Amino acid sequence: MHLAALLGLVGLSQSLSADDTHFHSNLNYHSPSCRHDSLGINIPLVSRRTLKRGAVPYTPDQLNFTHGVASGDPYHNSVILWTRIAPSTASDTSNTTVQGSVDLYNHDTEKYIQADPNPICVDWKIWPLNNNSSSALTSQGKAYTTSDIDYTIKIEATNLSPFTSYNYQFTICNSQKSSPVGKTKTAPSPDSDDISSISLAVFSCSNFPNGYFNAYGNAARKNQHDYVIHLGDYIYENSGSGERAPLPRKIIFTLHDYRTRHGQYRTDPDLQLLSASSAWFPTWDDHEIANNGYRDGFSALNNTEASFREGGRLVSVDQRKMNAVRAYFEWMPIRQVDLDDNLRIWRYFKLGKLIDLIILDTRNYDRSITSLGWNDGYIDLIKEEANRSLMGPRQEKWFYKTLVQSKERGAKWRVVGSQVVFAGNTMGGGGRDNWGGYLANRNRTLRVLGENGVRNTVFLAGDSHQNWVSDVPALGNSGYNSTTGAGSIAVEFAGTAVSSSGTAGPISSANNNARTQVNNNHVLQWQEGYYRGYFLLTAGKDKVDAQFFGSPSVATRNSWDLPLANFTVMSGENKLARPVAGGRVEAGALRGGNVVGTNLTRNTETGQWSVVGFPKMYI
Ligand SMILES: *[C@@H]1O[C@H](CO)[C@@H](O)[C@H](O)[C@H]1NC(C)=O
Ligand SMILES: *[C@@H]1O[C@H](CO)[C@@H](O)[C@H](O)[C@H]1NC(C)=O
Ligand SMILES: *[C@@H]1O[C@H](CO)[C@@H](O)[C@H](O)[C@H]1NC(C)=O
Ligand SMILES: *[C@@H]1O[C@H](CO)[C@@H](O)[C@H](O)[C@H]1NC(C)=O
Ligand SMILES: *[C@@H]1O[C@H](CO)[C@@H](O)[C@H](O)[C@H]1NC(C)=O
Ligand SMILES: *[C@@H]1O[C@H](CO)[C@@H](O)[C@H](O)[C@H]1NC(C)=O
Ligand SMILES: *[C@@H]1O[C@H](CO)[C@@H](O)[C@H](O)[C@H]1NC(C)=O
Ligand SMILES: *[C@@H]1O[C@H](CO)[C@@H](O)[C@H](O)[C@H]1NC(C)=O
Ligand SMILES: *[C@@H]1O[C@H](CO)[C@@H](O)[C@H](O)[C@H]1NC(C)=O
Ligand SMILES: *[C@@H]1O[C@H](CO)[C@@H](O)[C@H](O)[C@H]1NC(C)=O
Repeated sequence: MHLAALLGLVGLSQSLSADDTHFHSNLNYHSPSCRHDSLGINIPLVSRRTLKRGAVPYTPDQLNFTHGVASGDPYHNSVILWTRIAPSTASDTSNTTVQGSVDLYNHDTEKYIQADPNPICVDWKIWPLNNNSSSALTSQGKAYTTSDIDYTIKIEATNLSPFTSYNYQFTICNSQKSSPVGKTKTAPSPDSDDISSISLAVFSCSNFPNGYFNAYGNAARKNQHDYVIHLGDYIYENSGSGERAPLPRKIIFTLHDYRTRHGQYRTDPDLQLLSASSAWFPTWDDHEIANNGYRDGFSALNNTEASFREGGRLVSVDQRKMNAVRAYFEWMPIRQVDLDDNLRIWRYFKLGKLIDLIILDTRNYDRSITSLGWNDGYIDLIKEEANRSLMGPRQEKWFYKTLVQSKERGAKWRVVGSQVVFAGNTMGGGGRDNWGGYLANRNRTLRVLGENGVRNTVFLAGDSHQNWVSDVPALGNSGYNSTTGAGSIAVEFAGTAVSSSGTAGPISSANNNARTQVNNNHVLQWQEGYYRGYFLLTAGKDKVDAQFFGSPSVATRNSWDLPLANFTVMSGENKLARPVAGGRVEAGALRGGNVVGTNLTRNTETGQWSVVGFPKMYI
């Protein structure tokens, strides 16, 4: 059953008292949904608690901006700004499991945990890039935070100008203590036709214990993008060990666990750098909640009473989802597009008439059963069934309608942010846990593109920890020619991980594996699994360029950045331009082209080029 339906609605009073205004301006009190029992925070109660306890406010020296600043989900006139201001870097333990429960019961210690009654007040302001003269100040406001939302602050800065870069900053009220200055950018006006190009830096799969987030740092230093897209697996729920051991040091289940994990990830200096310097469009994959999720469970948690027997995890699938989702909304600069639907993060951004960005949730929203490690035979039996859906009927309907609307409004490019790989049946995940396990859903998508003449569609994907670049032929592959690209109706750029493991072993075995993949998948034009990294997608009126970059090693924090391959899609051609990648890539396997293997990398701090071989890829 759908989580929203399970939770039921509660009629929270929406009336604002003057005292509550600054609570309300912090969107995280609505996080992720003020209308759902257990998820939203009862602001009048928090506000009354403050008055009743005669709270003694913190002094500025008792507080810190503990995790930098971030911004995201830009509209043409507003953007989300984020920070955390707290008496400690540690996340708060007062995990609200019951709506309105102010003093919370800790089942481990059998004691009530007192929520911190002292609201912390911050002033925020936003001004045009590099012009902080008082006359240039564009927008400002005040917001409160408390332990109820882990001391996070998330506000919407409004009255901004389209496609404009801004600086912003938070300051503790009545003090000089300020956060770092962040940089962000609004979207173009939905109908503006005069934007010549927009660049998106695309990331996925940033596993903290597995390695350093060098790809984030490199992109931030190069500063060639307008916006960041993170396709998910932004955090991982697993346990682990080693020099970047995860906190807490175990698989995570509780709200406190998820908050602690998000907090640890945001200590990474390269994540802080990219967060402070760009507006992000975040979405989640499975690991923001747990591995191989679907509507009723995860690979390592069944929604059965066995989960509550001895040795079980003692948490229901829905409770765990709520914990993860709430921490996600607290810690990410993302909008809640539908307060009635806490799992909804599929959404649509009109970046002028140049790009319509369609962000999907192919994972947690309403996905039919996936590969869970013990049911692969069953998935193979059912994967062609028409009623299987990767997105659920509501999201599917919205997706198809949005594709057609986008064409009708004359947007030049449709960029679809999927998590899992779309093209081919077996690529990147064995074909059970990606679109290859939901063939009817993919067929329906291809039919919508084909029958409505939706053109200039670019699929993005992450999830697989390897690079896969493909043509997307029309439904049934009829007439597709992998040499010329004839018969293709879209393209896919599926990127490697920021730091999660790709193929094991030396580059030679990764390249051999890539050759096998290209030979076995006729739509696949380039495959590469050795390097960690990201790609830059630049859309103009005539073409889209995709430049892939590799991080030679994530075993250390370093600034080496290796150009791997460049692709072009000409407007109206709906296929990768030939010769694909100019006939030449750095690594992997290119259909009908050469692999040069120069190891020529550029240091994004010094600008220096050099041949750098790194023996060790991961921590
Ligand atoms: C704030 O940060 C400074 C510098 O890292 C540290 O010395 C101080 O203890 C922190 N204060 C609090 C309340 O966390
Ligand atoms: C509440 O948080 C504590 C840690 O502070 C944790 O041990 C406990 O399991 C949590 N309870 C729930 C229901 O999440
Ligand atoms: C803002 O203005 C002050 C005073 O002119 C200057 O010292 C400071 O560097 C400026 N900061 C930014 C972020 O522009
Ligand atoms: C800063 O903004 C003010 C107010 O809009 C404007 O008058 C001034 O020219 C700007 N200065 C710079 C350096 O852009
Ligand atoms: C979930 O149930 C399946 C089928 O009974 C079982 O094989 C698997 O081990 C269970 N997983 C967990 C984590 O209990
Ligand atoms: C899906 O359709 C198949 C027949 O193709 C049927 O056996 C199955 O019960 C259906 N599943 C659901 C969830 O409706
Ligand atoms: C998908 O479409 C192809 C081509 O029409 C067809 O052969 C295949 O059976 C379809 N699969 C499903 C699951 O609908
Ligand atoms: C693909 O197109 C090329 C170039 O026109 C042609 O030589 C080749 O025979 C075509 N392949 C197929 C399978 O039709
Ligand atoms: C891709 O383009 C970049 C920038 O133009 C260039 O430096 C690089 O050599 C190209 N890479 C390949 C593999 O052609
Ligand atoms: C590139 O680096 C890899 C890994 O260190 C090494 O195996 C390979 O020989 C190097 N290739 C060149 C052309 O230097």
